[in-house]
Amino acid sequence: MKNKLKGSDFLTLAPLSAEEIEALLEEAVRLKNDGVRGFKPLSNRAVGLIFEKPSTRTRVSFEVAVQRLGGHALVFSDRDLQLGRGETVEDTGRVLSRYLDGLVVRTFGQDRLEALAGASTVPVINALTDESHPCQALADMMTVMEYKGTLSGLKFAYVGDGNNVANSLMRACSKLGIEMWVATPPGHEPEGRVVEECRGYAESSGASLELVADPGDAAADADVLYTDVWVSMGQPEAAADALGRFRDYRIDREMVALAREDVMVMHCLPAHRGQEITSEVLDGSRSAAWDQAENRLHAQVALLGAVFG
Ligand code: CP
Ligand code: NVA
Repeated sequence: MKNKLKGSDFLTLAPLSAEEIEALLEEAVRLKNDGVRGFKPLSNRAVGLIFEKPSTRTRVSFEVAVQRLGGHALVFSDRDLQLGRGETVEDTGRVLSRYLDGLVVRTFGQDRLEALAGASTVPVINALTDESHPCQALADMMTVMEYKGTLSGLKFAYVGDGNNVANSLMRACSKLGIEMWVATPPGHEPEGRVVEECRGYAESSGASLELVADPGDAAADADVLYTDVWVSMGQPEAAADALGRFRDYRIDREMVALAREDVMVMHCLPAHRGQEITSEVLDGSRSAAWDQAENRLHAQVALLGAVFG
């Protein structure tokens, strides 16, 4: 199979086929088990990591992933760049492309990421926008594959806010043929445009995508129970007023009891313990959250290998 990612941007999962995503996941598992050995596609190359929002997992795992592949990572917050004083993303991308071999970018609008990528002459990777978090979805699907041994015949339930993480999971599940249920309070559904896009993928893959308001419908007999914070980075403080609306969407012992006995509980982290998930569940025997966090590293080693290999 031709490696479509080589030398390309990775801004969303949209351009990748199910086979391409699966190949990436298998490579991630292989690299996790066998190590990178002599594979050093980034040797004598430098990758810039730009974070306009805070990050623990994405920043550190990308920094280590670049290093594992022989490269040098330079990490910038917006305060470290003239970007923080109003230099445009386009000019930033143009200039940094003259020094660097790739950029990993966490920012606000997907349009801001696209503008930066459009002006850059090196590959740009999405490290989270308000619209999507595709690197997270890659690590998540890898984790499901490890725990369940397969991606087919599973019921995947996402409960909470229809946000960036939900969007990327919907793209991944609908491309990979997974039955996905998304339960959100009214007014917090994922964006209609992304739902339509994913319904299109589901039609060809045999996946299904159910949007419901009742978290119990999503959790019933689920193989995977997934949640994320109720208020995302960059959302107005007023969004916190909505917290009351999410009360029934917390993953707690009672919700886990609705799912299959061997359910895996996932959270992209950081968690607000006691809000979207109880500490009992996050620290409990069904939680996959820590392996999921580790897999960010392995999935990104595979991704960087595909882009720069
Ligand atoms: N899950 C995730 O992207 O975490 P960080 O915000 O810590 O990078
Ligand atoms: N939806 C969350 C994900 C954090 C990794 C946010 O954007 O803040």
